[in-house]
Amino acid sequence: MLHELPAEKAYRVLESGPIVLVSTRASDGRANLMTMGFHMMMQHDPPLVGAVIGPWDHSHQALSETGECVLAVPTVDLAETVVDIGNCSGDALNKFAHFGLTPAPAQTVDAPLVRECWANLECRVTDDGWARRYNLWVLEVQRVCIDTAREETRLIHHQGDGRFSVDGDTLDLAERMVKWRYLMDR
Ligand SMILES: Cc1cc2nc3c(=O)[nH]c(=O)nc-3n(C[C@H](O)[C@H](O)[C@H](O)COP(=O)(O)O)c2cc1C
Repeated sequence: MLHELPAEKAYRVLESGPIVLVSTRASDGRANLMTMGFHMMMQHDPPLVGAVIGPWDHSHQALSETGECVLAVPTVDLAETVVDIGNCSGDALNKFAHFGLTPAPAQTVDAPLVRECWANLECRVTDDGWARRYNLWVLEVQRVCIDTAREETRLIHHQGDGRFSVDGDTLDLAERMVKWRYLMDR
């Protein structure tokens, strides 16, 4: 049986990459966090990421004024915190302190890394042309840090309705990636 979904629910089928936290630091020095599910890799080199961050987010202002952020990739043990971070505003709340997360200095941007996350990507806005129409910011990744000491590395993916799938088995099909051999180094 085929069940039709309203077209505006397309995001429930084409769920993008893992849920991430966006870390920003406003020009007044205050750091903030928000949760983001709508993002996509756009280009390998230079590495570009499309990220939807709208004016309904307090973080939007910091991103607009500084042009910098960190994309912090949490694992499943942080799932509840990640949802709660996306359900409150940094306008009146210090989310790092409130949620017991540790800001760590980045090297290329003022926005802090999130020490508890598996990966942190330091990013700069490289094109805000789409932001005005679609709230879609094109970010260039400046630096990537992975916490290799972490035992839990399963990422979480939002299904669009408050449910999340958790990374499971890994299939290694690198041998078949004959056209993309240069991308297979580990
Ligand atoms: C699971 C989840 C996914 C979200 N994805 C996005 C997103 O892709 N883009 C966006 O602008 N807001 C998204 N949000 C909403 C923001 O995280 C939310 O508005 C948050 O309160 C913003 O924090 P701030 O006001 O401190 O910036 C998401 C929230 C949740 C819970």
